[in-house]
Amino acid sequence: MSEIVSNGYQSGFGNEFASEAIAGALPQGQNSPQRVAHGLYAEQLSGTAFTAPRHTNRRSWLYRIRPATMHEPFRPLAHATFHNRFDEAPATPNQLRWNPQPLPSEPVDFVDGLMTLAGNGGAAEQAGMGIHIYSANRSMQERFFYDADGELLIVPQLGGLRLATELGVLEIEPQEIAVIPRGVRFRVELLDDQARGYVCENFGALLRLPDLGPIGSNCLANARDFLVPNAAYEDVDGAFELIAKFQGALWSAKIDHSPLDVVAWHGNYVPYKYDLRRFNTIGSISYDHPDPSIFTVLTSPSDTAGTANIDFAIFPPRWLVAQHTFRPPWFHRNVASEFMGLITGVYDAKAEGFLPGGASLHNCMSGHGPDAATFEKASVADLSKPDVIGGTMAFMFETRKVIRPTQQALASPQLQDNYYECWQGIRKHFEPSQA
Ligand SMILES: [Fe+2]
Repeated sequence: MSEIVSNGYQSGFGNEFASEAIAGALPQGQNSPQRVAHGLYAEQLSGTAFTAPRHTNRRSWLYRIRPATMHEPFRPLAHATFHNRFDEAPATPNQLRWNPQPLPSEPVDFVDGLMTLAGNGGAAEQAGMGIHIYSANRSMQERFFYDADGELLIVPQLGGLRLATELGVLEIEPQEIAVIPRGVRFRVELLDDQARGYVCENFGALLRLPDLGPIGSNCLANARDFLVPNAAYEDVDGAFELIAKFQGALWSAKIDHSPLDVVAWHGNYVPYKYDLRRFNTIGSISYDHPDPSIFTVLTSPSDTAGTANIDFAIFPPRWLVAQHTFRPPWFHRNVASEFMGLITGVYDAKAEGFLPGGASLHNCMSGHGPDAATFEKASVADLSKPDVIGGTMAFMFETRKVIRPTQQALASPQLQDNYYECWQGIRKHFEPSQA
């Protein structure tokens, strides 16, 4: 009997990985031999259709102590705040902003601490996204979770997490992210007393690195900075719970052993982590701004070319050097809908009110941009010197479909009812007789 421990990482994105926690456990030259070494079972985990084009095809072969089929029947498991009911409340064109979710006072683990803020689409249509926040103060104990509805992009804002998965262990801290593939079973342990962050549940095509076009073969998030765990396993029997998220609801089954029992694996359907501080940020060195798509870390394409199901973009530390240019993000309206969070520091389009752990939502064609204080300051800034935007990390989940807030998000005491006021002080400067 042994509990899983990290075996370190291998690097890359989307390539064929291979790892074994016991030498010789990984079959050579075939995937499913008649008898796998060490008495292991062979099992394929498919993350895309069998016949998906080769460059998007994702699957892994797992060599494990027991196959994933072994558990008792699932029964519905109630969860008051974690769901995919995005039609409970009318979608609103209002600009919305929330203060950080309070940390729990009672013992709460990652799954119990999930609260759904907004979303669109769903698992049934295999498109769209769920936007959740988590706040927790204890590790998952004797329970494991998997999401059959989508892959999970986890963005910690407070406290480190140890994600013990079937394929190995990922440890992340704020300013790092992790992606747990659809179906992969895992346990979340806290590395600090408290944890809070954001989760993007992707119902659509798997997140991938964006094409770079004229940028060339480097920059933005570089493939080698993505880390995939080496195989690690635990051989533990006991009275455990396996929680599944399936078609928007939770289910619970008894399981008499830890499902984190994969001794060796190979393939390209894998959990991974990425340090956002490694993002190679591109910007204007002459005038004006590129679109914020230049900050895309990962993208989930839709069936329409160039129109993402989800873009995950970040606003990291950077130098602003553009001349005769309004340097903060401009006023704009967007056919896509934008959910933003702040991991640390100050976001350069807002003087106040957008707090680390907080969130904002600007839906399709809703006007937004710098607040009045930021506009006035930037309009008279000395452009002979660069602005250094330091000590900050904001992010955006951008999606082609309207983001529909949940009833609990609209009723939340964290919702700022005066957010619109940040733009009300914008002064009229129009003077026809002046240049
Ligand atoms: Fe925007």
